[in-house]
Amino acid sequence: MAMTRAATTTTEDDITNETLRRFEGTPDPRLREIMLSLVRHLHGFVKEVQLTEAEWFEAVGFLTAAGQKCDDIRQEFILLSDTMGVSMVVDLISHRKPAGATESTVFGPFHRPGAPEMAAGGDIAGPAARGTPAVVHGRVLDASGRPIGNALLDVWQANSDGFYDSQLPNHEQLQMRGKFRTGPDGRFVVRTTRPVHYQIPTDGPVGQMLRATNRHPWRPAHVHFVVSADGYEPVTTHLFDSIDPYLTSDAVFGVKDSLIVDFEAHAPDDEAGRTFGMDTAFVTAEYDFVLKPR
Ligand code: BEZ
Ligand code: FE
Repeated sequence: MAMTRAATTTTEDDITNETLRRFEGTPDPRLREIMLSLVRHLHGFVKEVQLTEAEWFEAVGFLTAAGQKCDDIRQEFILLSDTMGVSMVVDLISHRKPAGATESTVFGPFHRPGAPEMAAGGDIAGPAARGTPAVVHGRVLDASGRPIGNALLDVWQANSDGFYDSQLPNHEQLQMRGKFRTGPDGRFVVRTTRPVHYQIPTDGPVGQMLRATNRHPWRPAHVHFVVSADGYEPVTTHLFDSIDPYLTSDAVFGVKDSLIVDFEAHAPDDEAGRTFGMDTAFVTAEYDFVLKPR
């Protein structure tokens, strides 16, 4: 008489079904949904491209190298998510704003806590900075256009060579960062340098991926903001320079039309020069951030 034995998983589809079955009992319903979908898509992808063993080893090596590249000031996985468009898809799903509220964009890997609090008009670039002096100013408003006083703006930017402080040799020093509070009229004034377009870091596995796929690493010129106030949803966003050549091909897909601003040129002795107390030629950009109630 033939012996019966337990069925084994022998075909590709058997493995997929058995893997799904093993996640069926996940107690947290959201985790269950995520794991089942992940298995379906991951297995579907491997089968669709008929992934070879050599390619699988290469992928493991790539992810290992991405992990090894990370430390307290370098985040290769955020960069990978950003360049794969995943960060912006998550952003768009997570922040469906009512019409008129300021749109969000990628956080990126270069935010650092502990930026110094500065008075209105404080200069995040410092007196030794090169580049075109700039004033970025405006208001923080609620959806009905009322000013929000005491809102906090956490601002950071690359220097005029296109590098964040954490990429510089003296990276322990915070540079090109500041925190600003709005006055009772909702106004803020940030002094800085005109932002420049810059390359995202390409000395790691993400750079290898960009080169292998013939993609450029440029981000259009921008200033980063997290704007928050009691009773409102904080917004993580950028303001982009309207004349930048990379606006339509940002390496991390972060540009939204509503975040593009004009930088206007001024002489020190014109009205804006007097208003902002500038003694050199400079540029201004004006923007009103609108926060959604929490
Ligand atoms: C940034 O704008 O700082 C940034 C965002 C995503 C990837 C790299 C840099
Ligand atoms: Fe940036």
